[in-house]
Amino acid sequence: MDPHSLVEFTLGNVLLLNFIQRKVKRKVYNYIGTFLKKLSRIGSNRFYSHSNIPKMPESADLRLNDQSYPLPILTGTEKEHAIDISQLRKLSKFITFDDGYGNTGSCESSITFIDGDKGILRYRGYDISELAEKSNFLETCYLLIYGDLPTPERLQEFNNKIAASAELTQEVVETLRSLPKTTHPMAALACGIQSLGGAYPTLASNNRSSDLEKFDDAACLIISSIRSIAAAQHRFSMGMNHSTKDSTGNYCEDFLSFMFSGDGNDEIPEAVSKALDVIFLLHADHEQNCSTSTCRMIASGGANPFASVAGAISALWGPLHGGANMAVINMLNEIHKSGDDGSKFIESAKAGKSRLMGFGHRVYRNYDPRAKILKSACDQALEALGVESPILEIARNLESSALQDEYFIQRKLYPNVDFYSGIILQAMGFPTNMFTVLFAIGRAPGWLAHWKEIAASGSRIHRPRQIYQGSNLRSYTALEER
Ligand code: CMC
Repeated sequence: MDPHSLVEFTLGNVLLLNFIQRKVKRKVYNYIGTFLKKLSRIGSNRFYSHSNIPKMPESADLRLNDQSYPLPILTGTEKEHAIDISQLRKLSKFITFDDGYGNTGSCESSITFIDGDKGILRYRGYDISELAEKSNFLETCYLLIYGDLPTPERLQEFNNKIAASAELTQEVVETLRSLPKTTHPMAALACGIQSLGGAYPTLASNNRSSDLEKFDDAACLIISSIRSIAAAQHRFSMGMNHSTKDSTGNYCEDFLSFMFSGDGNDEIPEAVSKALDVIFLLHADHEQNCSTSTCRMIASGGANPFASVAGAISALWGPLHGGANMAVINMLNEIHKSGDDGSKFIESAKAGKSRLMGFGHRVYRNYDPRAKILKSACDQALEALGVESPILEIARNLESSALQDEYFIQRKLYPNVDFYSGIILQAMGFPTNMFTVLFAIGRAPGWLAHWKEIAASGSRIHRPRQIYQGSNLRSYTALEER
């Protein structure tokens, strides 16, 4: 045998051997895994008394090249566990890789708790359904930002401050008026918040301790003005004037009046402003989602609350994040136009030809608790408005068919917060391209609470690492030689 074929033969055999080894290994691992599972089932039923159930270890061992690295285990107040790898690179030169952060805890936070498997959402320990029933948006803003429910005096003070901050300075108004007429409302919102920071430079100094000291003023200003900016941009885009003069001090009533006063919609039924209040409250925080993580990332570099919130607004804009409520309405309108009652659409979603928008969630693998609350708010608001919505009937058909269908049951796909919110917002008269703006108004207190958590904890700058997969070192080729 010539040396070349010998090498090929040996390489072939080694590869074959490797393949067989991997197969055998996998079979053995599967067998051991099944055996251990069975044993633990038997154990938990029969042999283990409470005292000898294995406790959560204090550290996890990682073995790399025969070297062992003990990694501390972090346990949250709701008994969630995480392996703390913050010292791993220093000790081993290895980093961890988690594309899209699906399995990475980026911080410790005391603001919001979600258990997606059980359908639990709590702000500062309070269940979302209890808050939706008994609290309101502004009180919830206070709770998220300061950590506890306010006393009556503190709440009054907070509400007064918010009501007093509704009027935009002339410069901010002019900034909004000067934007191209084709500017998307989300771009205008981010721009308006940055310009608001510009109008109050002492609240937006990028000096962390100074911004923290004046944070209460900045937070009230942002929570109040974000709705004035949204309303002003809408009216300017319609060629109308904007005013915040006739405010009553009720956050949602005032917002609806800033938006629609003078166009025949001056009477606002209580059920309608209440439904808007519930929508804002349900969106107020959702822990480390794309926009909130963006806000925390910007804040970690020492940027002020206005810049951090403006960045979060841009992150929210995307259709996979805050833009889904719009997609639901577009889907329902399409179904309505085609004369379908929803049943054909369900079949096409199951065949992978379309996606049932407003269904499914990365975190909730049970009913999204916010969707349940919105469903009844939707019924009440439509009744108060006297609106017969043909798309509501389609939405109900889609929901009841999907909830009985094996495809959706098996994949744990339930309605999410966006399924009903768009129907309410449309009935209230909001243009579809403003739906994500309404999400942003609701989410502002959450972003601010996270800004404060970062600034007050003295957190160091967030700076993930990467695995470089590009070209190795190469030399520069002169332009004329390329
Ligand atoms: N309609 C039909 N099938 C679906 C849907 C849906 N809405 N969502 C997921 N699936 C199927 C998907 O095709 C896949 O099937 P298979 O296993 O046969 O390949 C399986 O369910 C798992 O889907 P996935 O895409 O891996 O799930 P994900 O966790 O990556 O995606 C999601 C979550 C929210 C992006 C997705 O469910 C979706 O696109 N939903 C519609 C858009 C939507 O309503 N988004 C708003 C989310 S709530 C707002 C927020 O909190 O920011």
